[in-house]
Amino acid sequence: MALWNSRFKKALNEIVLKFSASIDIDWKMFNEDIDGSKAHILMLVKQKIVSAKDGKAIIKALDEIRKEISSGILKFDWHKEDIHSLIEERLVEKIGERGKRLHTARSRNDQIALDERLYMRKEILQLVKLTRVLQKTLLKKAEQYKETIISGYTHLQRAQPVLFAHHLIAYVSMLDRDVDRMNDCLKRVNISPLGAAALAGTTLPIDRRYSAKLLNMNGIIENSLDAVSDRDVMIELISLCSIIMMHLSRISEELVLWSSQEFSFAKFDDSFATGSSLMPQKKNPDVAELIRGKVGRVYGSLVGLLTIMKGLPLAYNRDMQEDKVHLFQAVDTAKDCLNLTSELLKHTSFDKNKFEKALDGDFSLSTELVDYLVRKNVPFRQAHNLVGAVVANCVEKNIKLNELTLKDYQKISQKFDKDLFKLLTSRSSINNKISQGSTSSKEVEKQLKYWVNKTK
Ligand code: ARG
Repeated sequence: MALWNSRFKKALNEIVLKFSASIDIDWKMFNEDIDGSKAHILMLVKQKIVSAKDGKAIIKALDEIRKEISSGILKFDWHKEDIHSLIEERLVEKIGERGKRLHTARSRNDQIALDERLYMRKEILQLVKLTRVLQKTLLKKAEQYKETIISGYTHLQRAQPVLFAHHLIAYVSMLDRDVDRMNDCLKRVNISPLGAAALAGTTLPIDRRYSAKLLNMNGIIENSLDAVSDRDVMIELISLCSIIMMHLSRISEELVLWSSQEFSFAKFDDSFATGSSLMPQKKNPDVAELIRGKVGRVYGSLVGLLTIMKGLPLAYNRDMQEDKVHLFQAVDTAKDCLNLTSELLKHTSFDKNKFEKALDGDFSLSTELVDYLVRKNVPFRQAHNLVGAVVANCVEKNIKLNELTLKDYQKISQKFDKDLFKLLTSRSSINNKISQGSTSSKEVEKQLKYWVNKTK
């Protein structure tokens, strides 16, 4: 019999019960549900709403139920509707009438809102931890490939040479904002809705701040309607997962590209690549592709929950039960993909010599020549045009920048002198950068130190 059945003449139709049950999803929060119930009963005892004796019996039984669920003795069964009903029914089964006092001054509406917040709090800490691990993995790779030069791209066209470490640290920096955002979100998550009751509060003398304190939460959501009605912090967390996934997807996309024969820059360990059932030569980047592909789930969850919430009048509506599918999907996918990205990187090696020589004299050094002319007091726009003419000349002759003769350079501008040639190696282009945060070895070393220290 459902918790709410006494005013009905008939039991709920089986197909309706099956349709409306959420236990297959919300069982994941059994620990949070029990933590919340324990804080609630301790508060009821302190406020003398429930006797100390009954309170003690309830706490003891709740601890036992936690063990029963953890060990698999107490099974989930959709006839129980949701995790709250399952635990409360079991409580009454175990200690009889006394168990029926637990739900005093509480509704499943504030109960679920609390469970979700406790769950999100736990998961945010996990997400932060995994993001830090990935940052550290990226930094280790950066250290390992500190001197490796790659081509930097814009529009996926060769732009300027950069240090591979610089490229990797760009992701460390992005992920750091993810950590910041999660810590900020945590402030809004860790506030208690408990005691809002169904929507309007209660006539009983509860102490909302006390139960919040017992749960290590930083205060309460004051307005009882807001406490049970809103899911904006959950949407916020899913949007953070979406941003994380977007970052992981970009890393994955690069790994896919770099592992292609055309790039031949990244090589996956055999244990992190897959083959083809038809083409025997294939070594495919499935892990990176799947991370890129799983973004769809998380964005889907974001849109899913935004859509669920958009038309709901205050306060609780059953539509909101669907929130957990999206929360769990987003968080689980993000955690999984953070971990797999770290592992994939650990199992990937890069060809240190792939780009350095190939970029000597390359057109992607053109900007070096522009800056050279600017240093000789040529106005930038004019310098850009002159070097454009140099490039056009080389294209015509089908040669690299370092193959054009000084004579030809000087036909374009008398400002060119033979010292220009020492600017035309990829290494010199890297090390001639002097601006803060640039790709020079010195600046990259500084960044590396900063991030290693920050992510300790
Ligand atoms: N299983 C429900 C949910 O997740 C719990 C709250 C039920 N409240 C209600 N008034 N039916 O949303």
